[in-house]
Amino acid sequence: MTLLAVENLHTHFISRSLDNEIRVAKALNGVSFALERGRVLGLVGETGAGKSLTALSIMGLLKPPALIVGGAVRFEGRDLVTLPPAELNKLRGDRLALIVQNPRASLDPLSRIGDQLARVHRAHRGADAATAARRAVEMLAAVGLPDPERRARAWPHELSGGMAQRVLIAMALINEPQLVIADEPTTGLDVTVQAQILDLIRATVRERSLGAIIITHDLGVVAHYCDEIAVMYAGSIVEQGETRDVFARPRHPYTINLIDSTPERLAIGSGRVFGGPPPDLFNLPPGCHYRPRCPKASPACVAEPPWAAVDGGHFARCHHPGPA
Ligand SMILES: Nc1ncnc2c1ncn2[C@@H]1O[C@H](COP(=O)(O)OP(=O)(O)OP(=O)(O)O)[C@@H](O)[C@H]1O
Ligand code: SF4
Ligand SMILES: [Mg+2]
Repeated sequence: MTLLAVENLHTHFISRSLDNEIRVAKALNGVSFALERGRVLGLVGETGAGKSLTALSIMGLLKPPALIVGGAVRFEGRDLVTLPPAELNKLRGDRLALIVQNPRASLDPLSRIGDQLARVHRAHRGADAATAARRAVEMLAAVGLPDPERRARAWPHELSGGMAQRVLIAMALINEPQLVIADEPTTGLDVTVQAQILDLIRATVRERSLGAIIITHDLGVVAHYCDEIAVMYAGSIVEQGETRDVFARPRHPYTINLIDSTPERLAIGSGRVFGGPPPDLFNLPPGCHYRPRCPKASPACVAEPPWAAVDGGHFARCHHPGPA
């Protein structure tokens, strides 16, 4: 059952230059994908591809000068783009949760950890104080914090960065949201903690039939934890499919390059670094946005490439997809 359908989403940064001309950076250029219940989608792409912006656009958390100028975000039958802000606010922290990478900035320095968690639970679920406090300790245990009762009484400054990140994940999951978006949730954590947190997110998604989007630079994380992968370039999804299919037979030249440029491939000498500068969002080339960097570019690529099936259920946006 479809939980989330992002349809042709366009998000732009609209500003004025010093000589008062309107400048438009086309950061999201028709992002479309759907997420079924019980599934984890990995969203990947080089820095600046638009991954975080996709998350913020879905959650209704964009700040000016970023603006959604077209498209829809259908969640449980409603379009979040046109939902009144008060209703969207109610959904966030309840049915929708975003885990960001900067835990310190997201925790209240003047409130004990357990109280912060309990507050989120009470605000959305109307639980009494004792139930909310118990639930807070339960969640701290679930994200693997040792001695959770003692940690619940700790202040944010008493936690290490890794612990603070786990607290943030506990806060995101405390109300059992239907959709969890985790933007590089484990970057900077050691591998054991990373595995514990990603295991928890995946198990929660499967057991409770939720949906999760994990944004990451780590293709190993996608390979281990994500059912599907969506590859982003210059604000568009250029390839999407079951993780195992895309890794076994990447068809878009950008995906092929992305897989070739992982540190693991480079370390064993079978990799290839990316050529060319990243795209200029103020001045994207017509047709395929990857054209200036693509080794397979042809005159046909000045026309917009179609989103087409390249394997059963696996899609790419390219005039000349690689061989299966
Ligand atoms: N105020 C702005 N004006 C114009 N473009 C902007 C502005 N702020 C951000 N951008 C651009 O928006 C694009 C999308 O950024 P986003 O943060 O979504 O990238 P990302 O894929 O999450 O990258 P990373 O992997 O580094 O987190 C970037 O190319 C960035 O340069
Ligand atoms: S459409 Fe052309 S330029 Fe774009 S990725 Fe495919 S081959 Fe390369
Ligand atoms: Mg980002």
